[in-house]
Amino acid sequence: MGKQEFIGELGALQEEALKAFLDAKDEAALEAARVRFLGAKGLLPGISKKMGALDKDARPEAGRALNEAKGRLASALNDRLAELKGAALKRDAIDVTLPGRPVPLGSRHLIARTSAEICAIFARMGLSITEGPEVESDWYNFEALNFPPDHPSRDMQQSLFVGDGLLLRTHTSCVQIRVMESQPPPVWIVVPGKTYRRDDDLTHSPMFNQIEGLVVDKGITMADLKGVLQRFVDEYFAEGTKIRLRPSFFPFTEPSAEVDIGCVSCGGKGCRLCKGTGWLEVLGCGMVNPALYHNVGYDPSEVSGFAFGMGVDRMAMLKYKLDAIGRFYSGDARFLRQFP
Ligand code: DAH
Repeated sequence: MGKQEFIGELGALQEEALKAFLDAKDEAALEAARVRFLGAKGLLPGISKKMGALDKDARPEAGRALNEAKGRLASALNDRLAELKGAALKRDAIDVTLPGRPVPLGSRHLIARTSAEICAIFARMGLSITEGPEVESDWYNFEALNFPPDHPSRDMQQSLFVGDGLLLRTHTSCVQIRVMESQPPPVWIVVPGKTYRRDDDLTHSPMFNQIEGLVVDKGITMADLKGVLQRFVDEYFAEGTKIRLRPSFFPFTEPSAEVDIGCVSCGGKGCRLCKGTGWLEVLGCGMVNPALYHNVGYDPSEVSGFAFGMGVDRMAMLKYKLDAIGRFYSGDARFLRQFP
């Protein structure tokens, strides 16, 4: 083999290798090209073996050409590798100019919100927000509230008993007793909480939410009760909402009343919601029955007071014009999302 022939072959191989490096689309393809040309059994070492067949005085020049080719290919290989690595990095990099992914925002449940809103209205009138246990004894749930021993709500059909004379409280009124027995008057409290009954239909859920109010102080009259309630409906529903008190009965109040508001749907003309009456019943209330004062050690000749109780679920249904209580507790996010 002549010197020219060797150098020509070397040059062709070098071109071929350079092209293969540039054509490599990723690091694996480049590595394959490296092995093919520069590997121990590759084409370049293969051609260097042919040097032995050259004339002695041709070998130094051929050797130089071979080394140059090796150097050039090694650096071309490195350049291409860096290029591919850079491209891969760019591909995986975060594009900080893209808009962020929206993070879904949670919100308070409509019932929790309504409860807080109602409590806040009473808090502005000077009542403190207080809570009590959901598992209660017969004493706090019934006896101390002046329920006669044979009252129908003590029946297994109405109340959820948990054994040992304990039950899931059927109303928040128990907290009236708990607070009065733990402190001397005056008492100005509003009590939100979960309550339980064996009830389940469109407007009743076995677990529901109530808010209780109790004001016991010197010289409290029914006029105070009506004033507080009027202020409440003005703030919760709309300024100027009409109320009326209808005589009723609760063991823990005397006299007792049921409170109606002018229908929020028809404004009093009569519609399906108010069943043509123009009025909607929203809560129960009354003057604290002196029997309760005896049970907690208050002196009925010293103090008087009023109490009221309402269903939060019903308040929310009236305000947001909802037809079924079950929607609140179905856990259906599509429903809840309508009240962000
Ligand atoms: N505890 C009654 C109920 O469940 C509601 C109630 C009525 C509470 C009159 C009161 C009240 O404080 O004075 O349904």
